[in-house]
Amino acid sequence: MDKKTIFITGTSSGLGKLTAIHFAKLGWNVAATMRTPEKETELTAYDNIKIFKLDVTNVEQINSAVNDAVAAFGKIDVVVNNAGLGSYGPLELAEESTIDWQLSVNVRGPINVIRQILPHFRAAGGGMFINISSHMGLTTAMPLASLYNMSKFALEGLTEALYYELNELNIELRLIEQGGSKGNNFIDNALWNKNKKITAYNELENKITYMLENASDDQLDDPQTIVDAIAAQATGESKQFRTIVGESGKALIGLRNSVPIEQYLETIASNFK
Ligand SMILES: NC(=O)c1ccc[n+]([C@@H]2O[C@H](COP(=O)([O-])OP(=O)(O)OC[C@H]3O[C@@H](n4cnc5c(N)ncnc54)[C@H](OP(=O)(O)O)[C@@H]3O)[C@@H](O)[C@H]2O)c1
Repeated sequence: MDKKTIFITGTSSGLGKLTAIHFAKLGWNVAATMRTPEKETELTAYDNIKIFKLDVTNVEQINSAVNDAVAAFGKIDVVVNNAGLGSYGPLELAEESTIDWQLSVNVRGPINVIRQILPHFRAAGGGMFINISSHMGLTTAMPLASLYNMSKFALEGLTEALYYELNELNIELRLIEQGGSKGNNFIDNALWNKNKKITAYNELENKITYMLENASDDQLDDPQTIVDAIAAQATGESKQFRTIVGESGKALIGLRNSVPIEQYLETIASNFK
C-alpha cells in the first residue's frame, strides 16, 4: 500500500507537534509546517518528517510549502488545520490588531490553507481536511472569550458548509472539538485585552485570569486522546464529522443542546458571579 502523507500546520508545539510525531511513528510521511523551522530540534530526528516554513496568514508561503510537500512526498492525503491562538479579555478593550490577528490566524488561516490544497486534492481525486476546533466552536463557556469563540464558531460554519461543495469531489471534512489539554503553549501564546484605566471589567478579568492560569491537571485533557481522535479520522477508523474529545466538553455541549439558550446562558454566567 502507498505510504500516506499528512500535512499539519502549527507543529512547533502542543497538539501539532504531538500529531506530527504520532503519524511519523505510524509510518506516514509527515509534512510538518511551522513559522520558525530554524528553531525546531525534536521533529528533525524523524526521517519521515519534513519540515516546511508556513505562516497560515501568508498565502505565498502556504503555496510554497504545499508545492514542496507534494514534490517531496508525491501527494498529500490529509491536512490538519491545527495552527491557532486564543485571545481573552473584554471586547471593548481589544486592540484593533488583536481582533485582526484572531481572525487572520484562526479563520483566514484555515481558509488560506484549504484554498491552496484544493487543486492538489482535486488532481489526486480526493483528500481530507481535519479542522481543529474547540468546545468553544460548539458552545460558549466563559466570559471574556468572545473573539476566540467567534473564530471557532466561524471555523465550524466554514467546515460544515464546505461539505456541500466538496462532497462530490471525494474531499472529506472533519472537525475535532477539544478543550484545554496538557503540554501546550496555548495560554502563554494567548493575546490578552487588558486596560487598567477602565475598571468596569476588573472583577471578571481577575476571575478569568486566575481560572486560566490555575487550571489543575485534572481539569485538562490528555492530549494523546485528541491525537487519537485525529488518527481515527485520518486512518478511516471513524467517519464521524465532529468528534468531541473530553468528558467536560461532552457534558457542556450536552447541556447546551438540551436546555433553552436562555437557561444555558444563565447557568454559565452564574459560575462567574
Ligand atoms: N490548548 C487549549 O486550551 C485548546 C483548547 C481547544 C482548542 N485548541 C486548539 O488547538 C489547536 C492547537 O493549539 P495548542 O493547544 O497545541 O496550543 P499551542 O501549543 O499554542 O500551539 C499552537 C500552534 O499554532 C501555531 N501558530 C500560531 N500562529 C500561527 C501562524 N500565524 N501560522 C502558523 N502557525 C501558527 C503556533 O506556532 P508558533 O510557535 O510559531 O507560535 C503553535 O505551533 C489550536 O487551533 C487551538 O485553538 C486548544
